Amino acid sequence: MQIPDYLMNRHYDDRYFDVVNAIEEAKHIFFEGTEILNRLSKRSDLAIGETGFGAGRIVIALIDYLEKHNIKDISITYNTVELHPLTTARIRSILEDFRKPAGHLIDKLLNAYDCIDTTKYGWQQMEIQRPFGKIKINLWIGEALDMVNSLSSPCDIWFLDGHGPKKNPDIWRHELLMAIGEKCMTDGLCATYTVAGAVRRSLADAGFMVEQRPGFGGKKAVLKGIKRRFQINAPDNLPE
Ligand SMILES: C[S@@+](CC[C@H](N)C(=O)[O-])C[C@H]1O[C@@H](n2cnc3c(N)ncnc32)[C@H](O)[C@@H]1O
Repeated sequence: MQIPDYLMNRHYDDRYFDVVNAIEEAKHIFFEGTEILNRLSKRSDLAIGETGFGAGRIVIALIDYLEKHNIKDISITYNTVELHPLTTARIRSILEDFRKPAGHLIDKLLNAYDCIDTTKYGWQQMEIQRPFGKIKINLWIGEALDMVNSLSSPCDIWFLDGHGPKKNPDIWRHELLMAIGEKCMTDGLCATYTVAGAVRRSLADAGFMVEQRPGFGGKKAVLKGIKRRFQINAPDNLPE
């Protein structure tokens, strides 16, 4: 299938996400993969980390997901990063296909995004109030490893949503995934759409017990990792 031009990130010759069911895809891979509802049934605050903010599709999907599950009185801190920040207008056009199900949420995110300075390296803050509570978005403009290193406390959950490892190996590099392991709570979770062998091995080195889950759409399998107290050595015989 021909990928529409507006979905492509020219820095990596890759799309921001798969436009078919991208909101449902985020729910399956990232929210079910990290058992968000289960976590929120035990506590009212959650710190999430994400590698690559892109067009903010996961944020939109997350708000929609929490609203549909009738959650109340929670507070989410969403730490994310973007090396090549998009303009508000570009994000609007990338998210246009979701206007029908989530137009009001897209407008809220874009109103907040419009007020930050994406030309400055480092943290920028946005806050969105919803009936379930609030979501505070800390967006680091710059390199992912710098963002992870500058986090003052570990996250409960990580969404790893960089471009494909072949298109952008940098965002899956061992050093970065090790740093993410250090900035993840024990028993915290990570999720990603790629099951590439190098990613699985680095996540295992970073202390995650990695398992494959059924995929979504065109993907046969996706990945989930559970952070253990002690490092788990990756088996040497993992297939690619
Ligand atoms: C697949 S897109 C993310 C899509 C996004 N989660 C969404 O759903 O809209 C990956 C993003 O990571 C960014 N990125 C790539 N390498 C990076 C790096 N080293 N540090 C920070 N961001 C990076 C890209 O510019 C791109 O916007």
